[in-house]
Amino acid sequence: MDLSARYLGLNLRNPLVASASPLASTVDGVKRLAGAGVAAVVLPSLFEEEVRRQAAQDAALAQAGTESFAESLSYFPEEAGAEPGPRQYLSLVERAAAAVDVPVIASLNGVTTGGWTDYASALEQAGAAAIELNIYHLPADPLTSGRDVEQRHIDVLTTVKAVVGVPVAVKLSPYFSSVGEVAVRLDRAGADGLVLFNRFMQPDIDPESLGVTAAFGLSSPAEGRLPRAWIALLAGRLKASLAASTGVEDAADVAAYLLAGADVVMTTSALLRHGPEHATALLDGLTAWMARKGFHTLNDLRGKLAIPADHAEARERASYVSTLWAADRDGGSW
Ligand SMILES: Cc1cc2nc3c(=O)[nH]c(=O)nc-3n(C[C@H](O)[C@H](O)[C@H](O)COP(=O)(O)O)c2cc1C
Repeated sequence: MDLSARYLGLNLRNPLVASASPLASTVDGVKRLAGAGVAAVVLPSLFEEEVRRQAAQDAALAQAGTESFAESLSYFPEEAGAEPGPRQYLSLVERAAAAVDVPVIASLNGVTTGGWTDYASALEQAGAAAIELNIYHLPADPLTSGRDVEQRHIDVLTTVKAVVGVPVAVKLSPYFSSVGEVAVRLDRAGADGLVLFNRFMQPDIDPESLGVTAAFGLSSPAEGRLPRAWIALLAGRLKASLAASTGVEDAADVAAYLLAGADVVMTTSALLRHGPEHATALLDGLTAWMARKGFHTLNDLRGKLAIPADHAEARERASYVSTLWAADRDGGSW
């Protein structure tokens, strides 16, 4: 059975990728994921705020005008004592890339352009095989226009593309009026891949403690339906690779994403729930399913259930309406 896949122009041994999570926050974690069979590892995101904080700190140190670095540290005892995130992150990229024989993808989280985006070239030099832009922006100002939010994505992408030679993927949220158009614009702006979708930490209000709680929460397989629908609609229509993210619990979810047209399938919740070794079970299950269905390579099956461009609108509306009618006919069984 040939599971080899291609993503962002990289040749991968199979289509399973560990998406960004704390599982890859140490070199040992990355090794464990690669050992369990994943074909690439995305590191947890480095945040724009951290990069900016370090840049400000470095500038302040330089401005202090002292001759020796050690002496200058005394001006900023606290900041200097704590090892800043970005430096640790670069070191993680470097050591992880050297430790495993699968691509290590660095992830940047931010939403503005500016000096911090140059940091991508440092990630490239440290050995990142690609950069994933995890663009998170909650337009808290109700007067922010949708076009402005979309343009920020394009701007961050083009700024980073201008400073790196490695491929750049954009991890999207599903919260756009027209996800398809955003995908097409990013594709035209040079995105090498799109990751559909991110799943954000959404703070909630706890009536007992009268406070705000923040937790990531793990996904359920039903959440895979939305990204799967978008992958089925976009497959074959973009130059960029398509990565599926959200709701992969077992091999059937991986198979469904590939049939929809994903180039690779990412997983986090299932690996957090069952341990990194669950990747081996996902790959064994995928191989067994392919054998059962008579598929020999991923090319035999990828995109088999994608929605052809000339059917997209009709198909979406038709299946929605016919499902409603069928449920109505069956006495409202959902
Ligand atoms: C604990 C946790 C931490 C995560 N950290 C990141 C992160 O740093 N950057 C990122 O882009 N996504 C992050 N994610 C999102 C995952 O990479 C993934 O896109 C999301 O969980 C959906 O996939 P899943 O259903 O397989 O979990 C995180 C998810 C979890 C549960």
